Amino acid sequence: MFQSNRRFAARNTGRRLGAMAFTIREARDDDAAGIVRLGQENSAHYVRLAPEHFRVPDQEGLVEFIENDREWREGKDTLALVAEDKGAIAGYLEASLQQPDETARWQAQRDLSQIRLLINYVGTADAYKRQGVATELVQAAERWGRERGAVVALCDTLIDSPMSVPFWEQRMGYRRRAIIFRKLLE
Ligand SMILES: CC(C)(COP(=O)(O)OP(=O)(O)OC[C@H]1O[C@@H](n2cnc3c(N)ncnc32)[C@H](O)[C@@H]1OP(=O)(O)O)[C@@H](O)C(=O)NCCC(=O)NCCS
Repeated sequence: MFQSNRRFAARNTGRRLGAMAFTIREARDDDAAGIVRLGQENSAHYVRLAPEHFRVPDQEGLVEFIENDREWREGKDTLALVAEDKGAIAGYLEASLQQPDETARWQAQRDLSQIRLLINYVGTADAYKRQGVATELVQAAERWGRERGAVVALCDTLIDSPMSVPFWEQRMGYRRRAIIFRKLLE
């Protein structure tokens, strides 16, 4: 059972997707196969875009890994949402609340002294892309975070992604703040 402070599922939102209706709700064990399927599709996009950074994850055991992830999903500061269309998993999101850092008073970054919503994954199945699925998932996560005191939302993505950069910037109104530098140590 979901803990009382994670009663998001009790407030499912039905949305129209053109001719289709979809529901945003908390992820369940039996969503695992659909989540893996959309993850496969999206990792294939990223492998094509940047093979030096991405690979198709090992599929063996992955459905079971997600099924058995209930403890994480049901944690009080974690959120796993799906967008469901008549039993099909159209989208998936994972997020967590980051509590103020214990050392924040001695640090310059303002965000560290606040509750932050960290969105660590959002993905839409290929058949449902550009129909508002990820928008609804992120808005639901932002609502969830706001209700729990979060004052800022953070995420990162591949700088050259033609899907996710416009999604975060143009669609969702996120702004660039940091650069992750990387160098191979040979
Ligand atoms: C990024 C992603 C989550 C967007 O999901 P989605 O359900 O298609 O997004 P929505 O329909 O809610 O929003 C669409 C908006 O996002 C942007 N966008 C999404 N895909 C785009 C693309 N291929 N080209 C340009 N803009 C794009 C546009 O602003 C678009 O609005 P528009 O259709 O009116 O132009 C999806 O493309 C995806 O799963 N990508 C692979 C995984 C990923 O990159 N995740 C994000 C990093 S964790």
